[in-house]
Amino acid sequence: MNRVTILSEDEAISALGDLSDLLIDSVNNGASVGFHRPLAEDEAAVYWQDVCADVGQGGVLLFGAYVGNQLAGTAQLQPSSKPNGRNRAEVAKVLVHSTFRRRGIGRALMAALETEARRLGRTTLVLDTRLGDAGEALYVQCGYTRVGEIPAYVIDEHGAPDTTVFFYKLL
Ligand SMILES: CC(C)(COP(=O)(O)OP(=O)(O)OC[C@H]1O[C@@H](n2cnc3c(N)ncnc32)[C@H](O)[C@@H]1OP(=O)(O)O)[C@@H](O)C(=O)NCCC(=O)NCCS
Repeated sequence: MNRVTILSEDEAISALGDLSDLLIDSVNNGASVGFHRPLAEDEAAVYWQDVCADVGQGGVLLFGAYVGNQLAGTAQLQPSSKPNGRNRAEVAKVLVHSTFRRRGIGRALMAALETEARRLGRTTLVLDTRLGDAGEALYVQCGYTRVGEIPAYVIDEHGAPDTTVFFYKLL
């Protein structure tokens, strides 16, 4: 992995196709990241267009991990907009393309997120993931504290309930 960078709105718009590919790859390989498979290209594109707009408004920091010129992974830092939440941010949509997994890209994205969160004074990070998914192992490895589980927090593509695990980290 060559670099992790924070994408401006224009850079995110230019990368929209690659961002959509990352999301489709994760969802269609069974990840629980808000969508059901099969995820259509237009649905993925609409999602990323909204993210690009949020990036432009400062509501989201969008990270890209590159191998050469290829976008291999992405993650988001979503600072709380609440007056009493100015110390807090949510980590979301940590996605590494299936062809680039287990090479440290997820860990590098988390490290870059944390560096930026510290810089912004967002020293309380929260996140969640489906019980038993790779994300759970990644977040434990990155030093996040497991708060607990909520059963039936999400439903899978067949309508069956799935359990979500919640984590936090104080930087
Ligand atoms: C979760 C995800 C981002 C991990 O990305 P990655 O680049 O493969 O992660 P890394 O290579 O940095 O792994 C760092 C550590 O996390 C743990 N880990 C990562 N993936 C794992 C897996 N599938 N099984 C067990 N442990 C895993 C390991 O401890 C790993 O260290 P190691 O490889 O030295 O053993 C990736 O699997 C992914 O995109 N999954 C689909 C989307 C998703 O579920 N995202 C999380 C919820 S938002």
